[in-house]
Amino acid sequence: MKTMIIYASRYGLTAEAATEIAARLDGEITTINIARDVMPDLDNDDRIIIGSSIYMGQADKQVRQWVQKNQVILEMKKLGFFLCCGLPENFDAYLEQAFGAALTSQAATVCLGGELKTDKMRWMDRFIAGMMTRAAQKEGNPLPERHFERINDFLERLN
Ligand SMILES: Cc1cc2nc3c(=O)[nH]c(=O)nc-3n(C[C@H](O)[C@H](O)[C@H](O)COP(=O)(O)O)c2cc1C
Repeated sequence: MKTMIIYASRYGLTAEAATEIAARLDGEITTINIARDVMPDLDNDDRIIIGSSIYMGQADKQVRQWVQKNQVILEMKKLGFFLCCGLPENFDAYLEQAFGAALTSQAATVCLGGELKTDKMRWMDRFIAGMMTRAAQKEGNPLPERHFERINDFLERLN
């Protein structure tokens, strides 16, 4: 079975998730960073896994546009979506807004949590991350954390 993983990541958590997913799959796997790699043809892949981080309520623009452009072919594949985000309570809304109910309702989906890698951030993002952290602390909510332990269940649903 051939699998393509396509992802976008600003500070690396979604990239780590894509690597981890690839490591747990059997068969031929191609991992594509949409900001860096040439997009291959989808014709020969049985499974397509699409991942993005969320910034200001939005999945990555290049990923959204690519999914929209390839909607018809994606409808014919085994499809999985994963998101890395700091506000997991919004996961369903982020997913549907970014990729549409037609695709996401028939796909395996998973929220893999989030991580604020402040040491890597440009100053504006670090400032917003600070606001998110303070808001969570004030409301007694947990800080974003990764949930890669959900990957196995996600891949079982994808199969
Ligand atoms: C500037 C900024 C804005 C963010 N906006 C959101 C948001 O609107 N919703 C959310 O759930 N998480 C938000 N996050 C959290 C990120 O989605 C989370 O840190 C994620 O792990 C980033 O993945 P990446 O390392 O692959 O870029 C934001 C983080 C930053 C730094």
